[in-house]
Amino acid sequence: MISGKTKVVGLIGDPVKHSVSPSMQNAAFRKLGLDYVYVPFNVEKDSLQSALSGLKALKVRGVNVTIPHKSSVMDHLDEIEEPAKKIGAVNTIKREGQLLKGFNTDGIGAQSALKEKIDELKDKNIVILGAGGAARAISFTLAEKGANLTISNRTTSKAEELVREIKKKVGGKVKEIPQDRKRLKEELEDSNILINSTSVGMHPDKDETILTAKEMHSDLTVMDIVYNPPKTHLLKEAEKAGAKTISGLGMLVHQGATSFKIWTGRKAPVQTMKKSAKKVLEGK
Ligand SMILES: NC(=O)c1ccc[n+]([C@@H]2O[C@H](COP(=O)([O-])OP(=O)(O)OC[C@H]3O[C@@H](n4cnc5c(N)ncnc54)[C@H](OP(=O)(O)O)[C@@H]3O)[C@@H](O)[C@H]2O)c1
Repeated sequence: MISGKTKVVGLIGDPVKHSVSPSMQNAAFRKLGLDYVYVPFNVEKDSLQSALSGLKALKVRGVNVTIPHKSSVMDHLDEIEEPAKKIGAVNTIKREGQLLKGFNTDGIGAQSALKEKIDELKDKNIVILGAGGAARAISFTLAEKGANLTISNRTTSKAEELVREIKKKVGGKVKEIPQDRKRLKEELEDSNILINSTSVGMHPDKDETILTAKEMHSDLTVMDIVYNPPKTHLLKEAEKAGAKTISGLGMLVHQGATSFKIWTGRKAPVQTMKKSAKKVLEGK
């Protein structure tokens, strides 16, 4: 029950009404018996600064940050953790007194989802589709882990820029290839992991996929970060090719679990969060 002692966390973004996070985070608080509540706040672009002042005034413990504020919010924070600085985006804020600290849990969320099926990421050959916000978080995190990355984006210049930044800030083996089925098939022959971090295949365009079974093989692990629907067209094609699959629910839950730990200091009940997220998505 909410009382005068209840700690408030939440989400700022625009829109927020379809977010799975309120259900997932509140289920986790209930499971551990923590006196917290997670509330979505619809914050328009022009209101970001005043919303952040409001977090301090209202003593909100912390928030997740989503579209369109993930980059612009960085100009208004007092401290930003190193991975978020490199990635250039913040998806979690923790208030400590009058200070707002920024974190990025997307990359670590993807890494934890991969680790459920793969022991070691170092020296793995990984093909990443996309060069948007999520792809940036995932690429920087996996580069830090010593994976060899090949990035392929519809807009080539964005992938080239991401490769340049990773080389400069992290180093390691990272290259760009065009988003062309034939070229991707060749690259995948020597790869261990494929990650779709584009929005292709997301509801309502559920029949879309960048690759089909013909381009994949049974030694691949394929992760799609699109979580609505949980089993995307790409994952169905990956199954046809005999590949192992990881759905976007994994990253969704693990990025949320990392935010939960940042706010509460407690290890999140990941299975409870997964069950709750699944239930919401199945109802959509
Ligand atoms: N599971 C999770 O926890 C999680 C977390 C974050 C995001 N996501 C999901 O990840 C997806 C991407 O999010 P984001 O924040 O990175 O978005 P974003 O910054 O807008 O980037 C979108 C990416 O998708 C590509 N793309 C869009 N339409 C395409 C098409 N028709 N063909 C080929 N590529 C296309 C874009 O390529 P161009 O650069 O060429 O436009 C870009 O690389 C969304 O579906 C989001 O819901 C999931």
